[in-house]
Amino acid sequence: MDVLISVFLVLHFVGIVVLLGGYLTQVKAMNQGTARFSPLMLRGALAMLGTGVLLVALNKADDQSLNSVKLAVKLAVLVVILGLVYVKRDEERVDKALFSAVPALVVVNILIATLWS
Ligand code: HEM
Repeated sequence: MDVLISVFLVLHFVGIVVLLGGYLTQVKAMNQGTARFSPLMLRGALAMLGTGVLLVALNKADDQSLNSVKLAVKLAVLVVILGLVYVKRDEERVDKALFSAVPALVVVNILIATLWS
């Protein structure tokens, strides 16, 4: 079970890379005011949800203790990210502030995941 949990933790990290990588591909466009939420960012956000839920299930099945409040906050932050990326996916120009909110929220979730014990 430990190996399986580690594998999904790595996939959880791959989701972060895909989500932030999708953002980085748009930085130049963002500075020109033409950034858009790419399908890559939506896939990354969905990967975070899928791997996160599986990690909860695997840890529970392995009788590992989890901080439910922390996970609920992380889920709420991810729902906001997913909502933004999904609702605005067809818009050809997303406002710079709104676009920057996504990587900022990802960083917030990384800090919650690592600093909240
Ligand atoms: C943008 C969204 C997310 C980010 C950036 C993120 C980030 C992270 C990071 C960095 C870790 C490793 C923490 C450590 O080992 O110290 C982690 C672990 C974990 N994440 Fe996420 N996560 C996100 C969303 C979610 C969601 C939505 C869930 C499920 C509801 C979830 C469930 C878990 C679980 C179960 C672990 C392993 C146990 C723990 O550290 O609590 N994550 N996440």
